[in-house]
Amino acid sequence: MDHTEHIDKQSSAPLPGTLAERAAAEAAAFTTAVAATRVLRSPESVEALRLSYLGRKGKITALLEDLRNCSKEERPAAGKAVNVLKQTIEREIELLKTEAGAWQVAAKLAATPLDIHLPVDAWVPQGSLHPVTLIRREILGEFRRLGFTVYDGPEIDYDFYNFSSLNMPSDHPARDMQDTFYIKEQDHLLLRTQTSNIQIHCLLNEKPPLRIVAPGRVFRVDSDPTHTPMFHQVEAFVVDRGITFAHMKGTIDAFMKAVFGANMKTRLRPSYFPFVEPGAELDLQCVHCSGKGCRLCKQTGWLEVGGCGMIHPNVFESVEYDSEAYTGFAFGFGIDRMAMLKYKLDDLRTLFEGSYSFLGHFPIFT
Ligand code: PHE
Repeated sequence: MDHTEHIDKQSSAPLPGTLAERAAAEAAAFTTAVAATRVLRSPESVEALRLSYLGRKGKITALLEDLRNCSKEERPAAGKAVNVLKQTIEREIELLKTEAGAWQVAAKLAATPLDIHLPVDAWVPQGSLHPVTLIRREILGEFRRLGFTVYDGPEIDYDFYNFSSLNMPSDHPARDMQDTFYIKEQDHLLLRTQTSNIQIHCLLNEKPPLRIVAPGRVFRVDSDPTHTPMFHQVEAFVVDRGITFAHMKGTIDAFMKAVFGANMKTRLRPSYFPFVEPGAELDLQCVHCSGKGCRLCKQTGWLEVGGCGMIHPNVFESVEYDSEAYTGFAFGFGIDRMAMLKYKLDDLRTLFEGSYSFLGHFPIFT
């Protein structure tokens, strides 16, 4: 609808009588037009109203022109009436202009839906799980499915748990292979070199049958692309009557297949660890070449991941178990090494440098 037209029509009828009377009539019409403009609440209608009264062809302009033609007697009263009307209209229009500013703001606000929420970024960095955490969760998950219970043990431990009761008395040459961090002036306290210490804690605190998996940090004086002074191991062991080497082989095979896929092959190679007899080195078919031979496996087709064996009778005796009645197997392997193989990493140290550009590639959830 054209508001201008609407207002014009209202006041366009010729007004009768004297100029003063016409001015009075225009004043009344103007009051009506102002009311109509206030209903319309548009700045354009204010401008249209102004033009229709004060513009070049406006009503006031017409009245002022007519003033020239009126008689001497009439003129003073008519002049006063027209001028008063003009001033009133001017004042009223100024007022309407101010109001129009507020109408505009109100219209804008009404057109904008009110959002009571604080602005938030659609994407907030969530971080990711560390590859060692990811693989540890997966490893423990698979062991739980196999009926194992997760067990914990101390990182700072007595020589007894880490060495002597594991059939490594203080003069045992195998101790030299594990370059141990000792606690200053506390000869018998050390940073554990292996999670096998948990075997001893568990055997002393629990009763067979035991099916235990124990992850944790271990420490050795060692640092190169494939060794860090701190790394992670997992120890798994089963103690009961009648446990055999076949149980161990089956468990290791089932576990590795669960983590690396049904085609994964494992191999046991006779080896020596003081706390097992017989003992074996635990090899995994090369994840890179699937056994064909490559640089990673030094053309052998196999990768060494840990050790295993039947728990040595001396270990049972050291914790006062009847080694005739109980047998058991144990195996241990590096968690970090598993992460390297599973996620195809070539430098162990990247796991511990805390670089976000590396760690950010891993998922948040397992
Ligand atoms: N604790 C041994 C190591 O750190 C691994 C191992 C665990 C070997 C259990 C045999 C049985 O090298």
